[in-house]
Amino acid sequence: MNNVRMSVRQKSIVLIGFMGVGKTTIGELVAKKLYRSFIDVDQEIEKDFGMTIPEIFEQHGEAFFRDYEKKKTCALAEQKLKIVSIGGGAFLQPEIRESCLRNCIVFYLDVSWDEWKERLNILIDSRPVLQSRNIEEIEELFYKRQDAYSINHSKLTVNQRSAEEVADFIVDSLKHAWDMYEPMND
Ligand code: S3P
Repeated sequence: MNNVRMSVRQKSIVLIGFMGVGKTTIGELVAKKLYRSFIDVDQEIEKDFGMTIPEIFEQHGEAFFRDYEKKKTCALAEQKLKIVSIGGGAFLQPEIRESCLRNCIVFYLDVSWDEWKERLNILIDSRPVLQSRNIEEIEELFYKRQDAYSINHSKLTVNQRSAEEVADFIVDSLKHAWDMYEPMND
């Protein structure tokens, strides 16, 4: 897979990881710290349809959502200088994975199962993928998805860290990487 020839400073930053890991909160903070705009792909999809994600799942089904998610995420991943949070299931689609890895810098926000399961109650109402599964099935999904998430440019474990700490880590590591490259003129 060839990387798009673009200065590393111009690339958008994409946050991936399981539902509820904090992609949106952390992404907003990173965007503020880097003076970039933040895009939450699920929020963009909700705007496009004038419906919430659970409503889209209910009215159109998951296959329809995944197809739209693929088009939307790939299009947004081609923009420069953005901080983008993508849906927890998006990175399982090969086209989305390839587009994000080619065009952007991909950070995987990891969390342990023990830490994550404490968040289930606050997530369940807004996550249709969780509603159709019992706790054992959710745990299976959690571990199964780690294979796809493991293909990234940088991974960090969120666990006990605050969103602010994680955002600072991302910003510091990006600034460090940016210092290693001369900006290109393209
Ligand atoms: C999904 C995650 C959600 C949303 C949809 C499906 C998933 O996004 O895209 O409910 O399959 O993991 P978040 O990761 O932002 O919760």
